[in-house]
Amino acid sequence: MMQYSDCQMALKINILVGTMTGTAQLVAQELELAWDDGETKVETLLMDKLDSTVFARGGVYLICTSTYGQGDVPDNAKALYDDLNTKRPDLSQLRYGVFGLGDRTYAETFNFGGQRFDELLAELGAQRIGERVKHDASSGVLPEEMATEWGDEWLKLARQAAGQAA
Ligand SMILES: Cc1cc2nc3c(=O)[nH]c(=O)nc-3n(C[C@H](O)[C@H](O)[C@H](O)COP(=O)(O)O)c2cc1C
Repeated sequence: MMQYSDCQMALKINILVGTMTGTAQLVAQELELAWDDGETKVETLLMDKLDSTVFARGGVYLICTSTYGQGDVPDNAKALYDDLNTKRPDLSQLRYGVFGLGDRTYAETFNFGGQRFDELLAELGAQRIGERVKHDASSGVLPEEMATEWGDEWLKLARQAAGQAA
């Protein structure tokens, strides 16, 4: 019988993590555990010290980031965000998803970190896979549980998107 790997290359998912206190990293770790197998290869990178060239790695991307300050991206995500915003590369080949973490208590800026990346990537021509996730820390739902429930469907959409882009 034909194996999956005989007819299709493994999907590569790059998870880029913007975090201040590690919650988004925990989400990425859970998603990596759930997704990484023979058919899907996951690489998780903290955004620290990354620049816009990270988007040349191939595969699809998941931006997994929290929100701080006045609706800002976390400190470790600032250099990447600013580099993208300054260099403005053509990302029309890029397919990405966004798992945002925030807290509705910050009503005016709820989940702006994920939203900022989403808007910037869209401006640069990239196409989002699925809806942007907005986790709410005040909801009582654990972000890593929300992520693994959401992750099954997103993985299917990512496979379709990678197939169309190839
Ligand atoms: C000082 C501070 C400022 C925050 N500002 C916002 C905000 O403006 N909007 C929002 O949605 N969440 C805000 N949050 C909530 C965090 O984004 C949320 O707790 C998130 O789960 C933290 O994830 P992390 O540990 O990966 O950084 C703030 C939290 C702190 C402690």
